[in-house]
Amino acid sequence: MDDQEGHAVVQLTIDGIARDARQDEPLVDVITRIGGTIPHVCYHPQLGAIQTCDTCMVEVNGQLTRACATGAAAGMVVSTASVRASAAQVEAFDRILSNHLLYCTVCDNNNGNCAVHNTTKLLAIDHQRIPFQSKPYEVDDSNPFYRYDPDQCVLCGRCVEACQNVEVNETLSINWEDPHPRVLWDGGSTIQESSCVSCGHCVTVCPCNALMEKSMLGHAGFLTSLKKSTLKGMIDVVKGIEPEMGYGAILQVSEGEHAMREHRIRRTKTVCTYCGVGCSFDIWTKDRHILKVAPEHGPANGISTCVKGKFGWDFVNSPDRLTTPLIREGETFRPASWDEALSLIAKRLSAIKASSGPDAIGFISSSKCTNEESYLMQKLARAVVGTNNVDNCSRYCQAPATMGLFRTVGYGGDSGSITDIEQADLVLIIGSNTAESHPVIATRVKSAHKLDGQKLIVFDLREHEMARRADLFLHPNPGSDLFWLNAVTRYLLDHGLAHTAFLEQWVNGLDEYRKSLEPFTMDEASRVSGLPVETLETVARHIAEAKSMCVLWAMGVTQHTQGSDTSTAISNLLLVTGNYMRPGTGAYPLRGHNNVQGASDHGSMPNSLPGYQSVDDPEVRGRFEASWKVSLPTAKGLDNHQMVDAIHDGRLKAMYLIGEEMSIVDSNANYVSAAFKKLDFFVVQDVFFSHTCQFADVVLPASPSLEKDGTFTSTERRIQRLYQVFEPLEGSLPDWRIIQGVANHFGAGWTYQHPSEVMDEIASLTPLFAGVSYQRLEGYKSLQWPVHADGSDEPLLYTKQFKFPDGKARLYPLTWVGPTDQPNAEFDLHLNNGRLLEHFHEGNLTYRAAGIREKTPDTFVEVSPALAEERGLQSGTWVKLISRYGEVRVRALVTDRVTGHELYMPMNSSEIPVNRLTSSHTDAATHTPAYKETSVHMEVLPEIGESPLPRINSRFGHPTPQNGVEVERKWKRPDYRIPGTQFLRILNR
Ligand code: SF4
Ligand code: SF4
Ligand code: SF4
Ligand code: FES
Repeated sequence: MDDQEGHAVVQLTIDGIARDARQDEPLVDVITRIGGTIPHVCYHPQLGAIQTCDTCMVEVNGQLTRACATGAAAGMVVSTASVRASAAQVEAFDRILSNHLLYCTVCDNNNGNCAVHNTTKLLAIDHQRIPFQSKPYEVDDSNPFYRYDPDQCVLCGRCVEACQNVEVNETLSINWEDPHPRVLWDGGSTIQESSCVSCGHCVTVCPCNALMEKSMLGHAGFLTSLKKSTLKGMIDVVKGIEPEMGYGAILQVSEGEHAMREHRIRRTKTVCTYCGVGCSFDIWTKDRHILKVAPEHGPANGISTCVKGKFGWDFVNSPDRLTTPLIREGETFRPASWDEALSLIAKRLSAIKASSGPDAIGFISSSKCTNEESYLMQKLARAVVGTNNVDNCSRYCQAPATMGLFRTVGYGGDSGSITDIEQADLVLIIGSNTAESHPVIATRVKSAHKLDGQKLIVFDLREHEMARRADLFLHPNPGSDLFWLNAVTRYLLDHGLAHTAFLEQWVNGLDEYRKSLEPFTMDEASRVSGLPVETLETVARHIAEAKSMCVLWAMGVTQHTQGSDTSTAISNLLLVTGNYMRPGTGAYPLRGHNNVQGASDHGSMPNSLPGYQSVDDPEVRGRFEASWKVSLPTAKGLDNHQMVDAIHDGRLKAMYLIGEEMSIVDSNANYVSAAFKKLDFFVVQDVFFSHTCQFADVVLPASPSLEKDGTFTSTERRIQRLYQVFEPLEGSLPDWRIIQGVANHFGAGWTYQHPSEVMDEIASLTPLFAGVSYQRLEGYKSLQWPVHADGSDEPLLYTKQFKFPDGKARLYPLTWVGPTDQPNAEFDLHLNNGRLLEHFHEGNLTYRAAGIREKTPDTFVEVSPALAEERGLQSGTWVKLISRYGEVRVRALVTDRVTGHELYMPMNSSEIPVNRLTSSHTDAATHTPAYKETSVHMEVLPEIGESPLPRINSRFGHPTPQNGVEVERKWKRPDYRIPGTQFLRILNR
């Protein structure tokens, strides 16, 4: 018999009652699911069986065994409470308690979810048989975000398992052979000086207070902020009364304290505000203090986060938040009331509309804002002002990938889910520093590669972490991806390695496409890319042999003059090899911002109404016009690149921009800033007084994600709700309220009381989201679009057909143009640029996180050891980088992540923005700037400073890879024995 999901179901007996379970389902899960109780400390469903604590001992068919490591089987007879099992459980837990001081009432972890506390209660432990033994180590609180207390560490190894096999940073281990085992960072370093990337996995899964977020310490409990000496005195008192009173009475006191906490600690589900992975988690707060970020149920991330999502929230309570509207007066700004600011905006924009027409006004929405806010922004532009001049920052990154997918398969989104990436036989990563830009997706690839034999091929200019881990790392010449991709695809077709049955059944345009591949020979590809023919042939063979393949790509592909074409080439390759329509296959352009997918999905695009419905389709327009009761503009509007040109030309006179640091993150920043200076009227809405605010006439104070309700759509097209954690900081407002305020000062009469009403309107007008509702997205529920009216969604696209009228995909012929702005005698170095793990985008949010700033304080330019020697510089040497468009002064970091005459500069600095150097060249199809096609001249300056990356940065650490916690080493200790045997001897006497 199978269950609804197709798993085989078996029958077994648990404590005398017949039960159903899935074949091989861990007994610990079966027992919990049927409402039974079984102690367990080291087991965590997302980590699997670690087998270090032994507290889950049960009898199976008369033999003692660990319930976490035993799978259900037909006919099994399980006893959870036999004399032997109970004795084993108690003995095992006694050993746990010898490693942990129980002082729950004054412990910040006394929140109802402490495994040690709960197991003490469950097993009704009154007295410890094995006394607590302090470990001969100091507390390590060197890391800014969390601390480790060896005396509280029960050596369960959950943290090690999480670090080694989930995050796969491979920092943690336990020295099982030592007389006093403990958790080690890099085999014995301090946390701060180790390779730890502060992702927080270990802290999240620690079952007790051994690893704790520093933001919890002294804040979570009523008595936990006491001075250390007082605290120690109280702990001594508790320990003193334990022999007489037993733990039962002591635990009652701590449970009373825990009950009191329940009234003041709020746990609110939200979605990360940083990258497009879409991590969701509970945020624990006490008033406006963030106690911790607790990931567990997120459909995209489970227990995972990166440092930004786990610890990067200081900005929310930063003292320099904007808390009042500002109106320009000459060179300065004065505070204004909301009514005055919004009235001025309506008056000035109306006047410009009257004198120059609605198309003299441009709107830039934000990929940091919610779907509902993006929808309202484009509704304001179209329905209230009357222009299609509305865009968002996907233009800077994602638009070419979307174009490539529109051309070939029909939907502009990842074709599957993160689980498909995990399942793939082969993952190809092209132009994506996944471990730093999409860290949690990277963990899934790293884990599948480490544990499940997944193959990994990486094409990149830099030898970043994924490149170092890859089975094959290839460094093509900058901007040559289109060429080698086409050549590999041609090779597959020419050598009978294409998936012909798939092509015949599902793909149009093969003949014309094959003809277009004529120039793309392996020899020519080798000349253009610099990669040997044999290497490219090896890649082709790996692709052909793979049972399933996912391709992941990002800005290294899209931010080129042929970004759309290269994205198309990737999709063509997937089609030729039949790598669509099945689990473990597909195209994964990794979306950058938390809601960059949703901003475009919801219509902040010059050519599309929400759901990619074309503005020039009368049927579509008619539907929106009937609902909005207006006439809509028919001509496609300007994208943000065209808006900048139009300002310079005098065609665009006013702009309303929300949540984008456009003066820094757009390429050729000097040109963009010069444009902003020419605007007659400029409104900027942001959380902080950004660099872009300097050019504004009116600045409006917005609230960040933690202060609003709404939805975000992540890279896997996953729509998730975020719930308001805090009230908006006094003086600021959520963007949706501000946009509504602006609309109503134009007389629009909008009456939205809550974002759910906006979503209902979106669903009613947009087939792509027909079945989306807040109810269907409650809590951790999510939907991956398209969402049909009945609420069903499509985690894997194209399972039945492609998104074209005949259901077939289209091979799209391409020609080679080649990159612009190539190095020459004057500008002799290629400048690559992109993200860093710790910071996000220009850094306006992450530089306000003290711990992140401590670890990664500044930007830099990466210089190869060879170039450093050639130019006589070292880490810390100041250099001036001069491009055809501008210059910056920046410190050098010498590293072998880059080679030869290639430089890399993170984009994360508003003080030293790399975009002073980038050009106005763009991808022909989408106008996405060719950020990655930049050449510079480097002038070595006489000043030499500190290395821009401090020694405490994780990049200087030395990981210690191993296969999880390696419990077998514990079992080999001379003092280890299976629990239960000693008590049985006593019982038998
Ligand atoms: S990298 Fe650091 S924070 Fe992340 S799991 Fe490993 S030790 Fe913990
Ligand atoms: S620090 Fe690690 S080994 Fe120690 S109790 Fe916490 S999760 Fe277990
Ligand atoms: S930044 Fe991305 S990977 Fe990190 S926690 Fe947020 S969503 Fe997850
Ligand atoms: S829960 Fe089974 S050994 Fe720890």
